[in-house]
Amino acid sequence: MKKKTAIAIDGPGGAGKSTLARAIAEKLGYRYVDTGAMYRTIGLYVLRSGADPHSADEVVPLLKKIKIDIDYNAEGAQTMMLNGEDVTGLIRTAEISMYASAVSAIPEVRAFLLDTQRGMAKKHDVIMDGRDIGTVILPDAKVKIFLTAAAEVRAQRRWKELREKGSGQSFEEVLKEINERDAADSGRAVAPLKPAEDAVTLDTTGMDIDQALRAACEIIERKTKK
Ligand code: DC
Repeated sequence: MKKKTAIAIDGPGGAGKSTLARAIAEKLGYRYVDTGAMYRTIGLYVLRSGADPHSADEVVPLLKKIKIDIDYNAEGAQTMMLNGEDVTGLIRTAEISMYASAVSAIPEVRAFLLDTQRGMAKKHDVIMDGRDIGTVILPDAKVKIFLTAAAEVRAQRRWKELREKGSGQSFEEVLKEINERDAADSGRAVAPLKPAEDAVTLDTTGMDIDQALRAACEIIERKTKK
């Protein structure tokens, strides 16, 4: 079997990783793998169980009761299945963001997802986004992009998105959540959010989606030519 190509996109919440990765996947015919959705699915299970997401003692025993499956529809959109239930539409809330961030700091949770994530990159050409894809999951990825933007800009984008969905959350609340999640994801001991040494940083602060997409495609072309 021909060796597969992997593109890793890491960065903080709200940097536009999924929008960009989805567009690139479509353009290149790669499979888009959203690893944050896997942590969110575990977060949902933990929330429903009433366990403390910060407590390894409470979360780790739950892992053996969790079966996560990832399905793809004809358009390449990812469907998250939790023990046979489609939870794709349930994992995008602010509460689940915080649960996902909390459980993701537990080493056993990361180990639980590692094989699935690596397995997908073995079988398919992938563009995978997350926090530790270039550093831990796929250290040999052909292209590594660290996608970032100023916290205020990320909060503004997220706030607009939430407002369009009918959420009444204030901008200040969204910014506070972004800052809290940045601190938790970057400050944890295991697989913290940081650029891989060989990653190209793309700061989209002053860019719209088309500009960001063009810049990302230039990086990919440059790296895959070598
Ligand atoms: O990308 P996201 O916002 O859907 O991710 C939700 C949380 O999951 C994020 O705050 C940290 C965690 N996460 C992680 O630790 N490692 C990944 N590769 C992806 C997400």
